[in-house]
Amino acid sequence: MNVTEQSHNIVRIGDITINSIVSSAPLAGITDFVLRQLIRQYSPTCLLTTEMISSEALVQKPEANITYTNDKEAPVAFQIEGHKPELMAKSAKLVENKATIIDINMGCPINKIVKGQDGCSLMKNPELARDIVIAVKDSVKIPVTCKFRLGWSQDTKNFVEFAQLMQSAGVSAVTVHGRTRSQLYGGTADWNEISKLKGEIDIPFFANGDIISPETAKKCLETSKADGIAIGRAAMGDLSLIHRIEEYVINDILLPEPTLEEKINMVKKHLDFEIAFRGELNGIKFFRKFYPCYIKNIRGGGELRHRLVTEINYNNIVSILNQIIEEL
Ligand SMILES: Cc1cc2nc3c(=O)[nH]c(=O)nc-3n(C[C@H](O)[C@H](O)[C@H](O)COP(=O)(O)O)c2cc1C
Repeated sequence: MNVTEQSHNIVRIGDITINSIVSSAPLAGITDFVLRQLIRQYSPTCLLTTEMISSEALVQKPEANITYTNDKEAPVAFQIEGHKPELMAKSAKLVENKATIIDINMGCPINKIVKGQDGCSLMKNPELARDIVIAVKDSVKIPVTCKFRLGWSQDTKNFVEFAQLMQSAGVSAVTVHGRTRSQLYGGTADWNEISKLKGEIDIPFFANGDIISPETAKKCLETSKADGIAIGRAAMGDLSLIHRIEEYVINDILLPEPTLEEKINMVKKHLDFEIAFRGELNGIKFFRKFYPCYIKNIRGGGELRHRLVTEINYNNIVSILNQIIEEL
């Protein structure tokens, strides 16, 4: 599929048509089935992505919770992570019947991952990255994509050649986070740099990094000249964000941000769904990381967040949340 055939409101990835140009970026420990399901309630069309799934772990435990999905979730990309072509091929096969797309992690910067040649270290070893793509492509019938950064460091930005190599190995789309590995999450994502891909590959590309609102999404699309955009951290504190971004970049409709009361209702629903998925205590503890994302910029927020992240009793948590609404 040539990029010139892309329209402004769909992206074709191999033989799949995504009726949106917005995807949820993978976030380990965050974009679990629960969060994806809730994003889907707002956006029927965006491309969802799982958290990265370790190929080593997957072959040991193919039915682990991390691979859970249902028939309402599609389109969903299952992201696998690892560096052994055979194992990556095997893992892709194991989740193929649950996934719309297999995405390969080539951008994770954390030490634990890159020291084993996984994640972004594959950008330093393009031949291995290519072999992984070929092996995964050979093992599944669904489209394969990959996600990477601008390069390992400022001096070794190889994302254009890397994208070309991945395309020749068989990927049907790429997502580029506009930072290098050396930057980790510091500085700002360079959307202009991503635009260098335009005309250099014939498959669609998604721009990623620092999109936090409908307005920044539009700016990113214009600057990066990308076919689509991927939204990561900002989706953590607002279940409606991806839908609002779609409405703005596709239909030019700027929907209002959720009010604090609406956000508190999102918290309650998200927490309830996590409890249903993980059990009460595990769900309550797992959810703690989300409070600071939903509840910010309010008077006394620090103290309220402290009470929420230290509370293990469900009814007390709901009382604190109700108190926030009552004090508005
Ligand atoms: C907590 C966290 C977990 C992440 N997990 C993954 C992951 O599993 N796979 C991946 O490719 N990128 C992962 N990323 C990177 C994001 O997908 C994204 O590229 C990055 O956060 C920049 O986009 P954003 O500014 O929209 O968040 C993670 C980032 C964060 C902060």
